[in-house]
Amino acid sequence: MDRLAVIGDPVGHSLSPQIHMTWIDQLGLDASYESIRVPAGDVTAAMEDFARQDFRGLNVTLPHKQDVLVSASQASPAVKAIGAANTLSRLSDGRWRADNTDAPGLIAALKRVGIDYVTGRKIIVIGAGGAARAALFALDRADAEVIVLNRTVEKAGQVIAECCNSPHGYGPLEDLHTVAEDAEFIINTASAGHQDTCIQLPEGKGRLFFDMSYGAPAAGQLAHAQQQGWTTEDGLGMLVCQAAESFRIWFGGDLPDVELALEACRETLKADL
Ligand code: ATR
Repeated sequence: MDRLAVIGDPVGHSLSPQIHMTWIDQLGLDASYESIRVPAGDVTAAMEDFARQDFRGLNVTLPHKQDVLVSASQASPAVKAIGAANTLSRLSDGRWRADNTDAPGLIAALKRVGIDYVTGRKIIVIGAGGAARAALFALDRADAEVIVLNRTVEKAGQVIAECCNSPHGYGPLEDLHTVAEDAEFIINTASAGHQDTCIQLPEGKGRLFFDMSYGAPAAGQLAHAQQQGWTTEDGLGMLVCQAAESFRIWFGGDLPDVELALEACRETLKADL
């Protein structure tokens, strides 16, 4: 049996086991996927344990996305530029390869909602934390015209310098109303909703407001965006799309059934409300 898991702390809330088990069951694979709490400081030892126990792969969530890199003997170009991994695969020598599927997951999630391409399009990214780094990497490599707006403006310049090949614009969040005038859509990576605050948006005029959060933390921000005339999408689609990319790294073949797993997650979140 192939063993898989998501590691993090906390990790009990993670939808990853449900997503991956949906595909494991659908495809009739002899595999299991569990969630395992790994406290900060225990990551390196835990990774050695997982290798000894023959785990085939791991997903990594907060706060370990950087710490796991110490245990990886190979890392994809995305991991190197973003500085974080969310997917680990055990190599034949028992060591780990690190990938980051958040970047292709974002592009796939945008396609799901009608954004077929990003090349040459003016896109606002709000926030400059870990989630923004993956978004920026994906959009930069796809030759989008990105403008990063962040509460702390210096951090916006820093993430562009670290994650991008091309120069992109950046500024303080207060510039949102002006910059949004001719932007095609917004990707919100800021975790304001987790603190019960809401980023005030200008008029959307039907454009897309794509929030990487989902569930209760995203609700207030998405409601405000709708009131302002934005077409909204939460981060659940991206969560499932990045999981699909991980699944393909471990098992090969075609991407698994995103819509089936997304439906299952939406039911779980509804039941939790
Ligand atoms: P993640 O890994 O989820 O991206 P993070 O690294 O903590 O989380 O980054 C959080 C981002 O949300 C940051 O860009 C933060 O802005 P600062 O760089 O100024 O801290 C942004 N953020 C958090 N709370 C916010 C709020 N209330 N309003 C605006 N931006 C906020």
